[in-house]
Amino acid sequence: MANVNFIIALSILLILFFTSCNNRQQKAPDTGKVTDTADILKQGDTITARVQKLLLANVMIAMKAGGPGNAVTFCNVHAMPLTDSLAGDYNCRIQRISDKYRNPANKPSATDKEVSAKMISSNVMNPVVISENGRMVYYKPIKIAMPACLKCHGSPGKEVDTKTLEIIRQKYPNDLATGYKEGDFRGLWKITFLGN
Ligand code: HEC
Repeated sequence: MANVNFIIALSILLILFFTSCNNRQQKAPDTGKVTDTADILKQGDTITARVQKLLLANVMIAMKAGGPGNAVTFCNVHAMPLTDSLAGDYNCRIQRISDKYRNPANKPSATDKEVSAKMISSNVMNPVVISENGRMVYYKPIKIAMPACLKCHGSPGKEVDTKTLEIIRQKYPNDLATGYKEGDFRGLWKITFLGN
């Protein structure tokens, strides 16, 4: 019975999550052919939806099995390999970038900072495609789309309980990724297409 409840809860969360990220249709300002850009947008949407689903499902299972602290330990080991796992299918590099990063590997480049600053200032949260070092790059905003995110990214001592916080501090001594509220801009998906 508990399992059934969990599956129902997970399904609701997944539906909420994906329907809240459903805006697109934007042409890149400074790239080549429109057909290329449209194709990249489509591929980027597909890739990010797949990886997001994979990550979320795994985090939920780890939370269910041992609470958020256990899930932090799980993410510490598996988030990167899981994110990477679809890169080969699309010949691309898949990253999650944040100004307030938890894992220093997710620190933004100068271009990433520009893209996120523009999104925040214009409040236009659509995917964009740009060209960086001759490669097509797709960006899509990541928001704190559900209360579950706050278990590990909310206010320390409030949504993030002390035990979880302890594990976060231990695995990520320079963590910047707490203090968020639901709906906040959290960072960017960045998909760099390697082949032309
Ligand atoms: C169980 C705790 C936990 C939950 C719940 C959680 N995260 Fe995270 N999050 C982490 C950890 C740990 C990392 C660092 C992963 C790594 O080492 O690659 C991370 C990293 C990230 C990153 C990459 C940038 C960075 O700071 O390194 C983003 C973006 C992100 N989380 C967004 C979310 C969103 C959105 C949600 C809700 C859908 C969420 N997280 C839920 C623990 C969590």
